[in-house]
Amino acid sequence: MSSSSVPSSSNSKPCLPWRTRLAVSFLSLLTDTARRPDGTINRRLLRLLDFKSSPTPTSPLHGVTSRDHTLDPSRNLWVRVFVPHYSSSSQSQSQSLPVIVFFHGGGFTFLDPASFAYDAVCRKFARKIPSIVVSVNYRLSPEHRYPCQYDDGFDVLKYLDHNGTSLLPEFADLSKCFLAGDSAGANLAHHVAVRAAAEQLMKSLKVVGLVSIQPFFGGEERTESEIRLAKAPLVSLARTDWLWKVFLPEGSNRDHPASNVSGPNAVDISGSGGYPDTLVFVGGLDPLQDWQRRYWEWLTRSGVKAELVEYPNMIHAFYVFPELPQAHQLITQVKHFVNAKCHTIDPS
Ligand SMILES: *[C@@H]1O[C@H](CO)[C@@H](O)[C@H](O)[C@H]1NC(C)=O
Ligand SMILES: *[C@@H]1O[C@H](CO)[C@@H](O)[C@H](O)[C@H]1NC(C)=O
Repeated sequence: MSSSSVPSSSNSKPCLPWRTRLAVSFLSLLTDTARRPDGTINRRLLRLLDFKSSPTPTSPLHGVTSRDHTLDPSRNLWVRVFVPHYSSSSQSQSQSLPVIVFFHGGGFTFLDPASFAYDAVCRKFARKIPSIVVSVNYRLSPEHRYPCQYDDGFDVLKYLDHNGTSLLPEFADLSKCFLAGDSAGANLAHHVAVRAAAEQLMKSLKVVGLVSIQPFFGGEERTESEIRLAKAPLVSLARTDWLWKVFLPEGSNRDHPASNVSGPNAVDISGSGGYPDTLVFVGGLDPLQDWQRRYWEWLTRSGVKAELVEYPNMIHAFYVFPELPQAHQLITQVKHFVNAKCHTIDPS
C-alpha cells in the first residue's frame, strides 16, 4: 500500500489544450441534450454523434488487430478483442500475454467498445503493455438498471474461463487476468472483482490485478470536492445525480452498496483473500476524488494491496485525450503495474 503524487509542471489552474477543452465541452453538451428530465435518454441523437471505429480483424492498425465476438445475442452481450502483432522477430509471439478485461466509462448510460475514444484506448493498452484486451459491451441504463451491468461483466469472465480458447489467441494467459475500467467502468470492475473473489469458481482464469481509473462512486453525502467542483465538466453534481437515479434500483438512494462502496452498507471483502491488488487513479480536478480516495482507504483497511496515484491537475476522464502527456504517463504506469504483477506470478 502506497500513495504517490505525480509531479506536475504547473500547480495552478487546469491548463488544458484548446482541443481537449473543446472535446470536453462537446461531450458535456451532448450528454446534457440526450438526458431527459423524465429519466429517459435520446438514443437517436447519441447514435448520430457517438462516432464509432470498426474492428480491424485482418490488417493490424497501429500494430493491433481487433475482432468483435457475440457471447449472448439475447442481451446483445459482445466483446471487442484487441491482439498486438509484432512485425519484427525480436519480440516473439510465442511469449504469453496477460488478458485485460476492460469496462468503458460513460455513467452506465453512454458509449460502447466501438466508440472512437475507447477503441483507441484499448488498442493502446494492447500495444504498449503488451496484452490481449477484451472490451465488454454491457447493457446500459436507463433501459437496463443495476445489476444487469455487473451480471454482464461477470458472465464475460465465466465465458472466458470456459470458452476462452474460442475467442483468444493461444498465447493469451488467462491465469494472468486483469480487470480494468474508468469511471462507471471502474465501478463495474470493482463489483465484478468482488463477485469473482466470492464465487471462486474459475477453472483456468485468475484475476490477479485491478486497474481502477477515476472510479464512479458516490453517496447521499455531498463531499468537499463535489461541492467545490460542482460545475465540473462531464461529472457535475446535476449529471451524476441523474445517472445514479436511472441506474440504481427504483426507490433506493445513493447510499446503495453499488454506489457507496466504502460505507457501512458495503460488502465485507476483508479476509476473503481473493480481491486482487489494485491501482487507483485520481484527478485533482475531478469532483469524484473524495469518494475515490475513500475507496482506496477502504481497500487498504480491508487488507487489499492498493496503490493510489494522483494527478493533481487533471479532470475526470483525462486519459482518453491522447494530446495530454498525462494520458501517456497513465498508460506507462498501468504497464508497470501489469508487468510487475506478471513477474511476481512467474519469476524468470
Ligand atoms: C460457452 O459457449 C457455449 C456455446 O456458445 C455456451 O452455450 C456456454 O454458455 C458458454 N459457457 C459459458 C460459461 O458462458
Ligand atoms: C456512505 O459512506 C460514508 C463513508 O464513506 C458513510 O459515512 C456513510 O454513512 C455511508 N452511507 C451509507 C448508508 O452507507
